[in-house]
Amino acid sequence: MIKAAILGFGTVGSGVYNVLKSNNRLVNERAGQEIEVKYVLDLRDFPGDPVESVLTHDFEDIINDPEVKIVVEVMGGINPAFDFTKRCLEEGKNVCTSNKELVAEHGLELMSIARENDVNYFFEASCGGGIPIIRALNDCLTADDIDRITGILNGTTNFILTEMTEKPGVSFGKVLKQAQANGYAERDPSADVDAFDPARKIAILASIVFGSSVDYKDVYTEGIRQITAEDIRYSTTLGYAIKLLAEASRTEDGIRVYVAPFLVDPSHPLYPINGVMNAVYVHGNMLGDAVFTGAGAGSLPTASAVVADVIDAARHDGKRAYCGWKHDEKLAITSIDGVRRKYLVRISTEDEAKANKVFSPDGFLDTISVGELEDEIAFITPELSESEFEAKAKEFGKVISRIRFY
Ligand code: HSE
Repeated sequence: MIKAAILGFGTVGSGVYNVLKSNNRLVNERAGQEIEVKYVLDLRDFPGDPVESVLTHDFEDIINDPEVKIVVEVMGGINPAFDFTKRCLEEGKNVCTSNKELVAEHGLELMSIARENDVNYFFEASCGGGIPIIRALNDCLTADDIDRITGILNGTTNFILTEMTEKPGVSFGKVLKQAQANGYAERDPSADVDAFDPARKIAILASIVFGSSVDYKDVYTEGIRQITAEDIRYSTTLGYAIKLLAEASRTEDGIRVYVAPFLVDPSHPLYPINGVMNAVYVHGNMLGDAVFTGAGAGSLPTASAVVADVIDAARHDGKRAYCGWKHDEKLAITSIDGVRRKYLVRISTEDEAKANKVFSPDGFLDTISVGELEDEIAFITPELSESEFEAKAKEFGKVISRIRFY
């Protein structure tokens, strides 16, 4: 028997407790021993809930109990999660987490503390919710040199973009509220909408794939706040879908990591990924392409990944598991300035002549098919680097919106 504690009884913590109870028999069988939850830490009381029998308000009960060998940290945020995680690892307790903020900020340091104390720090649920992507990278794709990983890594924004596409006219605020009610969204929705959350996730995946730490603060990050119903109408008319893509790739110019909304064409494997689903599209030099997909947020899918880590921690009792993210030095990221793409650009009808002069498009899109957007026209630019586009946009003046083609 191995005893566990859960730090936090929120959306994910209650899911972990439920998965461990509901799938108790098979979890124990797969772990090779019985896993018993001895404590659940939360500041709140839960009168009448079965969790009451193991509830504590005091972290010291957990840290001072030598029987507890696995700690599930699902509190979120940096403090006190960082301090609690450090102390657990130093006490020789394995830690499993869904806390992408903490992993992105202090992952390497926490893994090194785990190494010094012969325990494991597992964080499968920090990227892609229920999708087994970290274990796939660390255990299954170890024969490959992976040069590109592209993902839809935020369930909330994918849910919002899908709803805006499928129910034209639905308000952004209403869809965000629905995502919050479903337990997908972050406490501060800016982390989702402004894409800090997928930036952290792609930084974690890039650190595993390329071996050294990618600082999420170096990741070019553009969210979906500026995407309007009109942008969606253009994308639908063109037969494309707007997706918030997070990508890390090794190129001739160096390693690039960025998150931004893109127009994705129907032949791309990430085009059909809708709603709260996440997907990760990996390219390896031997494997070629592989796509992993599943629910990217929500209580039980995220808990499923956390409990898989708990099982792995029980299987690795006294042994260290391999993790590709191992080098201390920070990875230098190449700017996106040189990346060449086409852009969809919307402008005022009166600026048509100027657009012809500055951008030299092949022609203009038929606005009639996009509805009653009478005062504006749109065009697709020739392939331009990011810096060329920025320079032209500056020379041009007022662009209503611009979206990159993937
Ligand atoms: N807010 C996150 C999302 C939760 O929407 O993907 C899962 O990390």
